[in-house]
Amino acid sequence: FRIGTSRFAANQSIAMTHAEAADRAVFLSAELHRHNRLYYVEARPVISDKDFDVLLRELQDIEARFPDLLTPDSPTQRVGGAALEGFTQIRHAVPMMSLDNTYSEEELTAFFARVQKGLGREQVACVIEPKVDGVAISVRYENGMLKHGVTRGDGTTGDDVTNNLKTINTLPLRLPKDGPQTFEVRGEVFMPKAGFAKLNQEREEAGESLFANPRNSTAGTLKLLDPKIVAKRPLDIVFYGLADASGLPIESQNDVRKLLEAAGLPKSNLLWQADSAEGLLKAIRELDEQRKALPYETDGAVIKVNAFTDQRELGVTSKAPRWAIAYKYQPEQAETKILAVDIQVGRTGALTPVARLEPVFVSGSTVSNATLHNFEEIERKDIRVGDRVIIEKAGEIIPAVVSVKTEKRDGSEQLIVPPTHCPVCGTGVH
Ligand code: IVH
Repeated sequence: FRIGTSRFAANQSIAMTHAEAADRAVFLSAELHRHNRLYYVEARPVISDKDFDVLLRELQDIEARFPDLLTPDSPTQRVGGAALEGFTQIRHAVPMMSLDNTYSEEELTAFFARVQKGLGREQVACVIEPKVDGVAISVRYENGMLKHGVTRGDGTTGDDVTNNLKTINTLPLRLPKDGPQTFEVRGEVFMPKAGFAKLNQEREEAGESLFANPRNSTAGTLKLLDPKIVAKRPLDIVFYGLADASGLPIESQNDVRKLLEAAGLPKSNLLWQADSAEGLLKAIRELDEQRKALPYETDGAVIKVNAFTDQRELGVTSKAPRWAIAYKYQPEQAETKILAVDIQVGRTGALTPVARLEPVFVSGSTVSNATLHNFEEIERKDIRVGDRVIIEKAGEIIPAVVSVKTEKRDGSEQLIVPPTHCPVCGTGVH
């Protein structure tokens, strides 16, 4: 393949016939898909970012001049196509269910006991994987092309957010020819921790409101109607399940991973196999150690019975499968001291009390502020300035005060008095 731009330099489409432009667009499209894959999926780019941009701009030029040559899977759609008026609703071929949660090792053991009882045997092969804290999505490929991506919505019908998903560089718009071509998979759109921190920093500098956590910013971004803005947000995606395999021989969760692998779709690198309660507990403990190093927020582990025959035998309840469960980790907590309480005035005039803290390290960053939500909450928890408190951080940028160590009081603590007037405009508070 020649990447040369001499004959067809970026602004040369003007001199092309339609037939020449069509040939060139097919060539450029294939090249850009290949380089995208080499860069984002295989992490071994063979051309520079600049050369990639030259090819992309040439294709954009051709499509601008010959709009009929713009195909839905064009690599130009990754930088954002036309804005929408609203999202189309799509009905899920297979409903998107939720998972039941467990919060203790005892509850998880009880889940496994139910599975053993349901199947009438001791050993049941399960897989354990990270629970990605993002937004659930169902993605369909037909004949090797990305057909659509739909949010969960109410579980039956969701929003068609395909144009927004196309901006995710690790999501193939076309599948490799030697792999499966038609199927629908389920996964999670997320914002990597680092990208989320950078986005919020940029928003702060621009005087814009901040997102509370990566999940909120993912959900907010997917709802945008202009893919050009979405393209500037660091979304990513990971797949973990199957909705429809159109006759492909997939009979287990491990087969689903093979399908994802063959299709070049992103999946979690972390996976455990276990067939006993002890094995499950060992896996969730190990995952808890390793999840901190993952590029995305996780709020738990998902435990699934591996074989589809077993899954079918166990069946589903009205809202969740009986063959899978989420195990939620405790959000990370730390003890610190409240140095002062400031009143923050929101855009709408809402007053939010914020605790200034003695800096403390929790969930990977140093925390010096915590939200107290409102004055009822302060009264309910009897929070005072000078108190030693337990704070908790669960993916949010601003942690919350969970409880007060009242036994550590020495009498110097001060009550927090709700303001009678707005600290900004002086209006009376009602
Ligand atoms: S399996 C029948 N696996 O968590 C539902 N879900 O609280 C099967 N999630 O709706 C879901 N990581 O949006 C599954 N590895 C994972 C997951 C995962 C995140 C989300 C998903 C699901 C929600 C349930």
